[in-house]
Amino acid sequence: MQPALKLAVVALVAVLSCSMDRFTVAQQDKTLDQRQQQLNANKDDDEGNANNVPALFVFGDSIVDTGNNNHLFTLARANYRPYGIDFVDGIPTGRFADGLLPVDYLAILLGLPLVPPYLDGGDDILHGVCFASAGSGVLENTGHSYGQHIPLSAQIDNFVEVKQRLYSLLGEDAASVLVSKSLYLIVIGSNDFFDNYIPTHSIISISYPNDTSEVFPPYFEEQLLSQMIQQLQRLYDLGARKIITVGVPALGCVPYMLNRNQGQCASLLNDAVQRYNSALKQNIMSMRTSLQDAHLVYANSFDLAQRILANFTAYGFKDNQTACCGWGAYGGALPCTPVISNVCTNASENVFWDYVHPCSTAYHIVVRQLWNGPQDVIDPVNLQQLRLI
Ligand SMILES: *[C@@H]1O[C@H](CO)[C@@H](O)[C@H](O)[C@H]1NC(C)=O
Ligand SMILES: *[C@@H]1O[C@H](CO)[C@@H](O)[C@H](O)[C@H]1NC(C)=O
Ligand SMILES: *[C@@H]1O[C@H](CO)[C@@H](O)[C@H](O)[C@H]1NC(C)=O
Ligand SMILES: *[C@@H]1O[C@H](CO)[C@@H](O)[C@H](O)[C@H]1NC(C)=O
Repeated sequence: MQPALKLAVVALVAVLSCSMDRFTVAQQDKTLDQRQQQLNANKDDDEGNANNVPALFVFGDSIVDTGNNNHLFTLARANYRPYGIDFVDGIPTGRFADGLLPVDYLAILLGLPLVPPYLDGGDDILHGVCFASAGSGVLENTGHSYGQHIPLSAQIDNFVEVKQRLYSLLGEDAASVLVSKSLYLIVIGSNDFFDNYIPTHSIISISYPNDTSEVFPPYFEEQLLSQMIQQLQRLYDLGARKIITVGVPALGCVPYMLNRNQGQCASLLNDAVQRYNSALKQNIMSMRTSLQDAHLVYANSFDLAQRILANFTAYGFKDNQTACCGWGAYGGALPCTPVISNVCTNASENVFWDYVHPCSTAYHIVVRQLWNGPQDVIDPVNLQQLRLI
């Protein structure tokens, strides 16, 4: 697409999304209790009573942002239709999906309420808080082309503030038990790869990546890894013990990349992601052995995604390459945009909901596998076992 046209479309997305905000917020409050009731009714069978996990704290990007970006001045927002068409009452909450996110499925399995966004500023912090911000990454600059964003280090700063509030609410003993028994879910890194794949690339830039030209800046993967490990160490130092780190998924196979690569998965991008993932996993496993009581687990979302994509009909999907809500070839040319986008009639038939995000049904499959999974998807213990530690 021509740069000028692309900018115009991005501006239109921004205008359309902002005009829908007010409707969304009013609707959201009214139905919150109702939504929780319906979700609790759908709890999975193997959700037991023993709950060693008082709270779920969440860090990351759009895969787990339950609504923080609604409060930011950014193009990375999803609080407008058709986002949320499969959410309770079809409400667009800011989640980048047709319905629930992985963090929601996990909260339900744990018997916890849906995790509230930190920037909603609510008082209920006892069951967890979501610090994630769509478009953000591990590196400070990742996401700046969308506007305001909260990098991982700042998300952890926000956790420090919540931790202080927990200490004054509960007292030192109870608060430190809560902090050490809670689950910490980290899903981040995708945007670091996208933003740095061809250094000048961004959502509003004029040059697009394709798989003939792998151009990461020098030391990109090393920097990403060392920043990530630093933040994990920081979380541990703050008292976190049960930390789930999710690797970067198969980014080369999302409609956005298929659109730029004649329908083929971008294998150089996938290779770079896999190199990073395996170094990340190695580091996590050595932190696990060197740090006392560090119950760190690594979730292999790359292989999980690849398996679902390669065998999509066995998982109940009809399409493994087209965004349900999108535009252009594979629906991968533009974000899901009101008015402009084509929207499929049943989002559960496509693995992908929009140009970069899977649909909620795909997220559900992934979370079920991490919950029950064998070591090749979640190492060294699955989430069900981690909960009981
Ligand atoms: C990839 O990008 C290069 C440089 O912009 C271009 O010459 C090439 O034709 C593109 N390849 C594909 C498969 O689109
Ligand atoms: C979709 O499935 C086909 C058949 O299994 C496979 O060849 C193709 O690579 C898959 N597409 C993506 C984007 O993973
Ligand atoms: C695909 O799914 C079928 C049915 O569940 C299974 O038998 C087969 O091993 C799977 N293949 C791959 C490559 O995952
Ligand atoms: C949507 O598609 C899924 C997967 O193919 C199917 O299980 C479900 O019944 C469909 N829903 C409707 C309302 O057709």
